[in-house]
Amino acid sequence: MQQLNDKQLIKRFSYINGSWHSSATEIPVHNPANGELITNVSNAGPEEAILAVKAAKKAFPAWSAKSANERAVILRNWFNLLMTHQEDLGRILTLEQGKPLAEAKGEIGYGAAFIEWFAEEGKRVYGDTIPAPSADKRIVVIKQPVGVVAAITPWNFPNAMIARKAAAALSAGCTFVVRPATQTPLSALAMAELAERAGIPAGVFNVVVGEDAHGIGKVLTEHVDVAKFTFTGSTAVGQALISQCASTVKKVSMELGGNAPFIVFDDADVDAAVAGAIVSKYRNAGQTCVCTNRIFVQSGIKEAFTEKFITAVNKLVIGNGLDDGVTIGPMINAQATKDVSDLIQRSISAGATLVLGGGNSPLGDTFMMPTVLTDVTNNMPIANTEIFGPVSPIICFEDEEEVIAMANDTEFGLASYFYSRDIGRIWRVAEGLEYGMVGINEGIISNAAAPFGGMKQSGNGREGSKYGLDDYLEIKYLCFGGLTK
Ligand code: SIN
Repeated sequence: MQQLNDKQLIKRFSYINGSWHSSATEIPVHNPANGELITNVSNAGPEEAILAVKAAKKAFPAWSAKSANERAVILRNWFNLLMTHQEDLGRILTLEQGKPLAEAKGEIGYGAAFIEWFAEEGKRVYGDTIPAPSADKRIVVIKQPVGVVAAITPWNFPNAMIARKAAAALSAGCTFVVRPATQTPLSALAMAELAERAGIPAGVFNVVVGEDAHGIGKVLTEHVDVAKFTFTGSTAVGQALISQCASTVKKVSMELGGNAPFIVFDDADVDAAVAGAIVSKYRNAGQTCVCTNRIFVQSGIKEAFTEKFITAVNKLVIGNGLDDGVTIGPMINAQATKDVSDLIQRSISAGATLVLGGGNSPLGDTFMMPTVLTDVTNNMPIANTEIFGPVSPIICFEDEEEVIAMANDTEFGLASYFYSRDIGRIWRVAEGLEYGMVGINEGIISNAAAPFGGMKQSGNGREGSKYGLDDYLEIKYLCFGGLTK
């Protein structure tokens, strides 16, 4: 923290109605790389969440009445400030979350890109006119902001998951309340500081930091003044939150768990496939919903791919994300490494072969060795659980139909990837995969211009892109009658 250029970016209180709001108790924020206390933040509860919802409700009429251009100017200011402070924000993110600094700064740019994107996209909320069935009528469709949006966001992307939701909400004219993960509140609060500097009016963007996930979550999902609820996190938690939203029939969008297949066909460019698998698997130490979870390799290319892949994994550098050259930081906490180690052990007991890694690194109990398992089958625990860690299970397959069936044999449907140079196969497989996103000869698919989201139990709604505004807008139909003289 001593190294920050702008120390005002470290905030310790919730941000509600344009003010910093302290609470009676505090939560410690630790650095997962060394367990050190970074700082304590105020521990808000359900009462503060209610205050934030009320502030957002009060701010809604004026914010939604602004023109899209006026909102775009303010959002653009926010984008510029985030980019100006990219270095500091990246450092804060690495301190509390662990990912390597280059990746953390990349996340700041990724998050800011959504704000830039939606600042512009808000200007294109077009309506419609529809030919009426009778001569004395006219049908017009307009789109309006839904109202107050509440969000719960995860620790794996402490900046970008807030930015992706808030940018769409604010540009549509909605106001916003977010509860960030308690492991990573500092990135969210720094965003609030910059939102204030950008000129976002009081009550439009609120951050409630608190340990009482259940109590705050109940307010955000059940309060009658919240029109829409959005969540990024596990499918199990998402399911519970969706049912809480039912009592007030909120609009809901969910970005939930994944079990991404990464398929390498015999005709693939092996070097490109290895490079794609490395970034898609080991980014953020394997802790993303779109990380490769299962690598399927066709039998003819299995030896070549596995050998090159192991060589590439061996080059990954594990360590404190603030140290130069580190490419894999710590996991979020010791429990996370323990859970992933257990998964590895259970899969070895079921017949998988450990060829690399397999457990904690000597660096400490939050550091997990990049791991490769072969002889994996699609029914082993490592293949049918969202791993959320730096483990690559390699599964061998013979033909296209077989691998599509195995890839789809999961309740999840978020991201998928495959490598092939055959144009016919590319279309067949792309259409056959039951996933919201398909990377074809590409391991990194996330960007602001593309619709991010899943099928099946990986969620609903899309974030980013021209589709990302839909979840924050109501469609209103105006029927003009009595037009004949
Ligand atoms: C996630 O893991 O939830 C988000 C990943 C991304 O945006 O690329």
